[in-house]
Amino acid sequence: MACRIDEISLLAGREKNMKVVAINGSHRRGKNTSKMLRAVLAEVEAKGGTTELLELTDYEIKYCTSCNKCLRAPKCSIQDDTSVVAEKLLDADGIVLGSPVYWHNVTALMKNLMDRLRWMHMTENMLAGKVGAAVTLAGLRNGGQEICLSIMERYLKSQGLIVVDDRKQDAGILTAGAAGTLLADYQDKQVSFRKSVEEDQLAIGACKQIGRNMVDLINRLK
Ligand SMILES: Cc1cc2nc3c(=O)[nH]c(=O)nc-3n(C[C@H](O)[C@H](O)[C@H](O)COP(=O)(O)O)c2cc1C
Repeated sequence: MACRIDEISLLAGREKNMKVVAINGSHRRGKNTSKMLRAVLAEVEAKGGTTELLELTDYEIKYCTSCNKCLRAPKCSIQDDTSVVAEKLLDADGIVLGSPVYWHNVTALMKNLMDRLRWMHMTENMLAGKVGAAVTLAGLRNGGQEICLSIMERYLKSQGLIVVDDRKQDAGILTAGAAGTLLADYQDKQVSFRKSVEEDQLAIGACKQIGRNMVDLINRLK
């Protein structure tokens, strides 16, 4: 019996034991950024991959001290949970970064991790060839989502990852990146906000498409 294309990729994901790790840089565990990342990971799981969501609030990650030892060898002089996160990233085929917008930028938690993973990039690009993606949201519309996405995507590229977006190959463009907002409406001089980013169907749809695009590219690269 002939297999449908999505059944084939389901089998392919299982067979190759694909793993995608998501990192939540939100200072609020399990909230909106986490929900967007879960939407990405649910699609990966639906296609047979295994996933893990890391909440950065669960990890002790000290500041980079700029000791510059990573300029000579691919290791960090600071002992903390960064090594736990790094092991998970090395083990993954795909990495998704998620950060809410804080002042048109990533959060301090996400930026701190970015700095601390410098040793994975300086003498060799240890994450090179993996598939990466980023998701973000902000309180406002045009609240800095595009800048925040650019920062994370540029970082992933610097680390040698191949970045996918939410473009649906057979249906043109729906949105330009997984960028959510909590702003719902403005009527009678009153601003209203969504209870959850899950009400932002464009953002959740983009997250799902990113999950599918990651699986497809990982399968093609294997
Ligand atoms: C310190 C701080 C800075 C923020 N800066 C912005 C901003 O520049 N633009 C914006 O639209 N929202 C901003 N927000 C709102 C957050 O992006 C928003 O609350 C987001 O949903 C938080 O994600 P979370 O639910 O995962 O915590 C900021 C929030 C905080 C706490």
